[in-house]
Amino acid sequence: MSVNMAVMESPEETTSVVTRNRIVCFVNDELSAAALRKGLDGSNLVIRRGTIRHATRMLETDTDLSALVTDISGIDDPFTELERLASVCPPDVKVCLIGENREITFYRELMEIGLTEYLPTPITRDMVLDQLRPKLLGEVAPAQNDRGGHVVSICGAQGGAGATSVAINLALQLAETTKAKVALLDLHLQGGETAVMLGVRPGPGLRIALENPMRADTLFLERAAIEVNDRVVLISGDEDLDAKLDITEAGVRHVLGLLRQRFNYVVVDVPVPFPASIYPVIQMSRHVLVLLEAEVTGLRNAHALRNAVTNIAGKDRVFTLLNRADRPGGLPRATIVKALGAEPDMIIPDLGKGMTQAVNLGVPALKHVSALRRHLAPIVREITGVGSRKKAGWKRWLGL
Ligand SMILES: Nc1ncnc2c1ncn2[C@@H]1O[C@H](COP(=O)(O)OP(=O)(O)O)[C@@H](O)[C@H]1O
Ligand SMILES: [Mg+2]
Repeated sequence: MSVNMAVMESPEETTSVVTRNRIVCFVNDELSAAALRKGLDGSNLVIRRGTIRHATRMLETDTDLSALVTDISGIDDPFTELERLASVCPPDVKVCLIGENREITFYRELMEIGLTEYLPTPITRDMVLDQLRPKLLGEVAPAQNDRGGHVVSICGAQGGAGATSVAINLALQLAETTKAKVALLDLHLQGGETAVMLGVRPGPGLRIALENPMRADTLFLERAAIEVNDRVVLISGDEDLDAKLDITEAGVRHVLGLLRQRFNYVVVDVPVPFPASIYPVIQMSRHVLVLLEAEVTGLRNAHALRNAVTNIAGKDRVFTLLNRADRPGGLPRATIVKALGAEPDMIIPDLGKGMTQAVNLGVPALKHVSALRRHLAPIVREITGVGSRKKAGWKRWLGL
């Protein structure tokens, strides 16, 4: 590729005293170079063309740096190359990799051997800003940058918007795509529908844990979790409609904390309007999906719900999902875009009566309505960064 690797070393960057905080990057494509240049703007940055092999060679003679970012794309055995790198790299130099592998297990292996971060290509400015910059420059990390599982909240702007359907099937597809462990948490303890839709019966475990956080240890999971398949469990309740529940914020925080230790993803079917006790869920979410249908009620509520999420958790977490788009009788798209002030971030079309049949059969719609998987794929990709980059989603990846 003929690219202009614009930022080359300037003479002052090679003098020793000022270079100890130098960040050296070896990358092979202009997209990665641009993302690093923008995301690490203002730091003492050197970007060179190359891979981990070039980095190792440099380190044999020059260890005047605080961090190294290097490419392992196209390297057959990255762990062997990493061993070579480790033999010449001072232990206090932070090492970040970028590469093509998107397996969560690969990522974990890298973290286990002490790497600072790994980003799958193509990297974007935002990925560098969110994930590299705080670790390399010691700036305050965004709140979501901890080790616990990734929380995805699903909230319906109006009843019947499809929140429960999306929560269940998204949980299943996340597990299928990433091979990760997924917990589906239904916080509608009274009249919740996830269990009905999956054809199972929950016990009292979730209520007990939410009401008495001191009593809920990891055993709670064994009591409350119902296996949906090898990778997905459901945690839900089925309390009487007239039961007086005493769910506290501390209880919710504790349960979510336990789940985040054991599961890579926690998909939450969130009651709307949010009771104050579940604010921690919104605060801990990396993605909050606000679902609406093409109806006046949905539009009005979606606006208010987006604001509520932003007030609780800050902007950039909330995504608008227009469900059953193009359903006969629904508002035209232009009206929706005008009212939302933007295109919906995600769209699922009306998938017909098969969706409701699935509910009545007590099976996940994913097994019954073949088109659903295709329409959930861009949402899974947005959440995980895993999957092909074809179609509508690719512009987001390039940060366009
Ligand atoms: N994209 C869709 N196309 C067709 N039917 C849908 C779609 N999404 C949801 N449904 C159906 O709409 C109904 C309400 O969905 P549900 O998930 O219970 O909504 P909510 O949890 O927001 O109240 C269910 O019968 C469901 O099968
Ligand atoms: Mg529901």
